[in-house]
Amino acid sequence: MHDHIARVLITEAEIEVGISRVAGELTDRFGGRDLTLVAILKGSFVFVADLIRRLPVPLRVAFVWAESYREGTAPGALDLFWTAREDEIAGRSVLVVDDILDSGRTLAAVRRECFARGAAEVHTCVFLDKPERRAVEFIPDFACFEIEDVFVVGYGLDHAGRYRNLPYVAALKPEFLASSAVAPRGARP
Ligand code: XMP
Repeated sequence: MHDHIARVLITEAEIEVGISRVAGELTDRFGGRDLTLVAILKGSFVFVADLIRRLPVPLRVAFVWAESYREGTAPGALDLFWTAREDEIAGRSVLVVDDILDSGRTLAAVRRECFARGAAEVHTCVFLDKPERRAVEFIPDFACFEIEDVFVVGYGLDHAGRYRNLPYVAALKPEFLASSAVAPRGARP
């Protein structure tokens, strides 16, 4: 797997520092509140697992599966499948967490749906932010790292379902980034 990597953008040590910084910001902001953290699957699971263990605040975790249909690395239509119970969202402070903010469509849709389900307030937190790729206006409340416009894998992020287990964030060699056929994917985008 490591020989598929062209370049490491964020090392394990840097990830540790970035997450600890954001965990501190979140603790200062939400210290006294009972939060519901809504994790967007699949990509955010590694980030969420590391993040919540650095948050000494009362919280619950709920999940929403965002399935997009894409060709290669370009995003397409989006479906959301919720596992959150009504009382986990309604009337509560919600923090939506995703692996990467790209076009902004996923987070915008999940935030809208949280409000539609009665959330008292909705904040957003991403591991990576790719501001150059934005298609809808969206600024995350919390972000660990800003990255350039390059397709990345590792630390939960996949290509064709693989590479999520890499402990760093990296760009693939072009020969491993070749686009596959257009198909609905269970693994999100
Ligand atoms: P949007 O466009 O809705 O996209 O902000 C967010 C989702 O798109 C996927 N995405 C990537 N996945 N490497 C990946 O493995 C990338 O560089 C990348 N850029 C976008 C990702 O699943 C994210 O949640």
